Amino acid sequence: MKNIVILISGEGSNMAAIVRAAEEGRWTERFGARVAAVLSNRPEAAGLVFAREHGIATAAMSHKDFATREAFDAALAAAIEPHAPALVVLAGFMRILTPGFVERYAGRLINIHPSLLPAFPGLNTHQRAIEAGCRVAGATVHQVTVELDHGPILDQAVVPVLADDTPATLAERVLTQEHRLYPRAIEGWLRRG
Ligand code: GAR
Repeated sequence: MKNIVILISGEGSNMAAIVRAAEEGRWTERFGARVAAVLSNRPEAAGLVFAREHGIATAAMSHKDFATREAFDAALAAAIEPHAPALVVLAGFMRILTPGFVERYAGRLINIHPSLLPAFPGLNTHQRAIEAGCRVAGATVHQVTVELDHGPILDQAVVPVLADDTPATLAERVLTQEHRLYPRAIEGWLRRG
């Protein structure tokens, strides 16, 4: 079985879209794959409830309980390892991972970022896209490498930026597309197998 482990920090709407796509797209029957666990660095993350309701193992560990990034990442890896993941999926996981963690999961660690990379790595992507006068914005699924938001691109979705957009309205339009993009990118990864 190809186990997928998803890391979240908050709402988890991308994680929910992936879980629904796995169920509706019969990923277990077609690809021998399943979402095995959802882990969060925020115990109060709303997405954990959704995951449990779908019969998925969950765990939460607060990064605030660890003195260093290395210690937190070691605990995170210890929670991931029992699931022997074929793929580790960052879905709104708002922690920068240490090089040691990234190297451990090299080639099987992916992220979704709310911009058309390589434009606007980092935070406040929608505000920066509007301020720059971009006519299009979007989201990118990419492999995670040590350099933040810079790994090889797997897939992208594009949306228009409208004249009266605020960062919130643009974020909503992009997020709707993220929910199609991320399952599609993972299905492509599974198909290539
Ligand atoms: C998504 O828009 C995702 O692209 C973004 O956080 C949101 C999470 O939403 N990720 C990043 O900004 C990563 N740097 P969700 O928790 O509802 O999936």
